[in-house]
Amino acid sequence: MKGLVLSTLVAAVAAACAGGAGGSRPPLREVGPNELRSPNDFAGIEDEAERSRALFVEAGRVLKHARCVNCHPAGDVPHQRESLELHDPPVVRGPDDHGVVGMECTSCHQDKNQWQTRVPGAPKWALAPLEMAWVGKSLGQICEQLKDTKRNGGKTLAEIVQHTAHDPLVAWGWDPGADRQPAPGTQAQFGALVEAWVAAGAHCPEEEAR
Ligand code: HEC
Ligand code: HEC
Repeated sequence: MKGLVLSTLVAAVAAACAGGAGGSRPPLREVGPNELRSPNDFAGIEDEAERSRALFVEAGRVLKHARCVNCHPAGDVPHQRESLELHDPPVVRGPDDHGVVGMECTSCHQDKNQWQTRVPGAPKWALAPLEMAWVGKSLGQICEQLKDTKRNGGKTLAEIVQHTAHDPLVAWGWDPGADRQPAPGTQAQFGALVEAWVAAGAHCPEEEAR
């Protein structure tokens, strides 16, 4: 008898949670791990703020990808590979995020990938400044920081859109060389998501992306 009461209670709680505060929302189109949804896929979300948050969660599949976070560490050392292991050979960010004298990033990293040696490359290769660190942050925190001119390199939202859609260092995420996994979708699709996020009010998700 006790067991029955308990399981009824559990079922009731589960139903209440599934009902959720967010109200009903059309299911999103299924996509593979290498695909990105387009802004159109979110058109069915009527509430603009909710649509904006959902768009950012989708863009977050790129932001939280190893190709991006490896260069946006929370410490002084870049990460590498899919496992976010620390950079080997050991290097540090140095005074201006370009390495230290004799061990500058560009003493190894050129402006394009080097196939023979596996060394990845793109123009202006350097570590993202500490205030742009993404490792260990929730998507909501990354979102707030992207909008904060004190922590985003003084960029307006229009400049953030521009950066995500066209920056050559960001572009490397889809052409990473060797056996590295590219970020999902294309840079153009990613830029379009960020643009649609801004157009819908640049609202930040509260929870972590799923
Ligand atoms: C080789 C290192 C490197 C890689 C890889 C890299 N970034 Fe960055 N990122 C930087 C540097 C350096 C800056 C700061 C310079 C600037 O703003 O132009 C930056 C700044 C940014 C900014 C601007 C502001 C902010 O608040 O962070 C965004 C957005 C960004 N990167 C997105 C990305 C995305 C998306 C990827 C992956 C597809 C990526 N980055 C991969 C080094 C990198
Ligand atoms: C002594 C040479 C050398 C120096 C100096 C160097 N790197 Fe690297 N870096 C490499 C090599 C080699 C790899 C590739 C490792 C692999 O994947 O096998 C690499 C990989 C990376 C990756 C990982 C890409 C990924 O997603 O797996 C990042 C990010 C990176 N370096 C950033 C930097 C930054 C930023 C600096 C300067 C602070 C720097 N590196 C300095 C040799 C160097």
